Amino acid sequence: MTHRIGTVRTLSRLRRAIANFREAGETIALVPTMGALHEGHLSLVRLAQRRADRAVVSIFVNPTQFAPHEDLATYPRTFAADLAALSHLRADLVWAPGADLMYPADFATRIAPEGPALVGLEDRFRPHFFGGVATVVAKLLLQCLPDIAVFGEKDYQQLMVVTQMVKDLAVPVKIIGGRTVREQDGLAMSSRNAYLSASERAAAPALYRVLRRCAETIGDGQDVDVALADGRADIERSGFAVDYLEARHAHTLKPIGARERPLRLLVAARIGSTRLIDNIGIP
Ligand code: PAJ
Repeated sequence: MTHRIGTVRTLSRLRRAIANFREAGETIALVPTMGALHEGHLSLVRLAQRRADRAVVSIFVNPTQFAPHEDLATYPRTFAADLAALSHLRADLVWAPGADLMYPADFATRIAPEGPALVGLEDRFRPHFFGGVATVVAKLLLQCLPDIAVFGEKDYQQLMVVTQMVKDLAVPVKIIGGRTVREQDGLAMSSRNAYLSASERAAAPALYRVLRRCAETIGDGQDVDVALADGRADIERSGFAVDYLEARHAHTLKPIGARERPLRLLVAARIGSTRLIDNIGIP
């Protein structure tokens, strides 16, 4: 018989399911998502399953991390397919709260992350974003009380912001990063890739191609600013408008001195009405 994953939509049912796992002495991993699951999300679920006895996946399209002009209304929602994929993986539980449960009318608390959330990368272009992410992630962690929570390196600044928040607030959860899953041509998988037209999709691998080339030449000793200027021009020639292409310290995300390592190269660029991000490490 095919496994059917359980979905819970109320906090009391979630707490009961978690308590049952705990009573059996099982460890729990949480994978927070906004649904529209692709192979990148599923790789995080597999990682969660390797690291804990139970894998809980949250699916919640979080309104507070979208600005009014962004794509909250049109963000892809594929709940039935998501459940089928998670059932196939034999994940243990889907936590799918409604917006009124997460943000009731009298909701009045918001986490304001600093440090890696204020370094002039995503925060410069989406100033509302990390406040919304930190608030919802804190709430999801407190609702599920997992031992570990898994986030993708794809959203590298987000991973650093969540790691810092959990440390600062002494949340007893270990944050684990999962590798970025890519299409065959290198494009990082993203729910927003569905927005790309055929010609935009054909141009999109430029981001990772340039990141890889920059990582290689900088690793070989080329001047960082020269490498990034070349890379930016290449991305623009492919039809993108570049929001940023920068080298930062891999942990703090602060600007780096000449010989500081490890580095992370991070890029955000727009093509048509779609905004894509990606990143790569330099040891
Ligand atoms: P979402 O974009 O759905 O992503 C959920 C998780 O999947 C994030 O940790 C993200 O980094 C990871 N992910 C996305 N694409 C990936 C890829 N190609 N390879 C590996 N991992 C990938 O990120 C969010 O949702 C939200 O901000 C959330 C943390 C759920 C808070 O609302």
